[in-house]
Parts: sequence; C-alpha cells; structure tokens
Amino acid sequence: MPIKAVIFDAYGTLFDVFSVGALGEDLFPTKGAALAVLWRDKQIEYTRLRTMSDQYRDFWNVTQDALAFACDSLGLPLTDAARDRLMQQYAQLTAFDENAAALTKLQDAGLPLGILSNGTPDMLRSAVESAGLARFFDHVLSADSVRKFKTAPQTYQLGPDAFGVPVSDILFVSSNCWDACGATWFGYQTLWLNRYDQPLERLGVRPNRIGSALTDVAAYVAEING
Ligand code: LAC
Repeated sequence: MPIKAVIFDAYGTLFDVFSVGALGEDLFPTKGAALAVLWRDKQIEYTRLRTMSDQYRDFWNVTQDALAFACDSLGLPLTDAARDRLMQQYAQLTAFDENAAALTKLQDAGLPLGILSNGTPDMLRSAVESAGLARFFDHVLSADSVRKFKTAPQTYQLGPDAFGVPVSDILFVSSNCWDACGATWFGYQTLWLNRYDQPLERLGVRPNRIGSALTDVAAYVAEING
C-alpha cells in the first residue's frame, strides 16, 4: 500500500518532553528527571481518564494538573512562579536535532505532512514555531477539535478527514508505543520511533515498523513507495 501522507505525533516524537527536566533540576535540585517522568506519566493518565469518563479538559490544563500532582507526590513546593516557568518551557520544548533534515527529505519526496496531537492548537503552534518547523506541515490537527484524547477513534479520524485519503494510505509516526498501537488499531500504517529502547506494549498489535529516530521515516517511505 503506497504511503500518500505522513502524520506525526508531537510530544516525544517531534518535541523532547524530557527537556523540561533541565529546568526542573534548576528549580528542584536532584529531582528534575523524576519530575519530568512523573509529570509525563500523569499527563497521559489524565488524558485517558478524562476521555473514558467524558470529562474533557484541554491538554494545557491537563498538563498543569499533572504538574501539580507530580510536585505534590515528590514533595516539591510548586510556587505560582515555578509553575508558570515550567509550563512556559512546555510550550517551547526542545525539538529533536534530526527533525528538520528528516522532514525536508519527506517534503522533497512530495509527501504532505501533518501533526496529530493531544496538544491544544495554541500549544502546538507555539511548539512548532519556536522549533522553526512550521514550513513543513500542511495540517496541524488537535484532539481539542473533538474533545477526546488519543486513543479515541474520533481523534485518529482527524487524519484521513484532513488529508482526504483513506487511513490505510497514511503513515502515522509516534515515539509513544501506545499511540502507535492505537493508530494501528485505527487502520493507519504505523512506525514506532522507539527512542528510549522500550519494550513493545502487550496490546496484541504491532506497528508496521520500529525505528529509533525521525530519519528512519524517510527510509521506510522510500522502501514502501519504491
Ligand atoms: C501527543 C502526545 C500523546 O502529542 O504525545 O499527542
């Protein structure tokens, strides 16, 4: 099946969510890495709970709630000023070094590109612009438009709707294995960027390809499209 478009997850895939650990470390010495991990885990847990129970709150607020919980849990005093600095950092996460070169290759191959993320439109705009990646994306799609987070089918449906091609013609790329699995269930061709050498989720489904960096995407597309 030829690939007619490529859609990327945002957080963890294009933007390094653990880059907030450095500021966390400045604010709470020795606790930065633990804060970054718990913050991320809680953020994703809250997206699932809120979607399952139909209690939508946007990703900016969910992220802030998760930060408050993570600090509480680790015994870290979170002042309003520290919260604002950490959240501001989240709006301008470090992008992975290989992004621009990898996206240029795909764009040169004539493929339309997009982002499909739990992030709010404002968060995504800010992250994409601060990383200088805006020129690459034809569509930046947010779960906010359906008020359900991934892995809700309504959220994955935004991809084929925006690109106007069948889901089976779209390659979905995520560094979050659960997201790559959810997209596979939905019918995308999928590539899991296993950036941190994690085991495969035991969900009875396997992404079509497992890579380790964004540069693997163009190679996969060339292999499939010939
Ligand atoms: C996103 C999160 C799941 O960008 O990484 O949707």
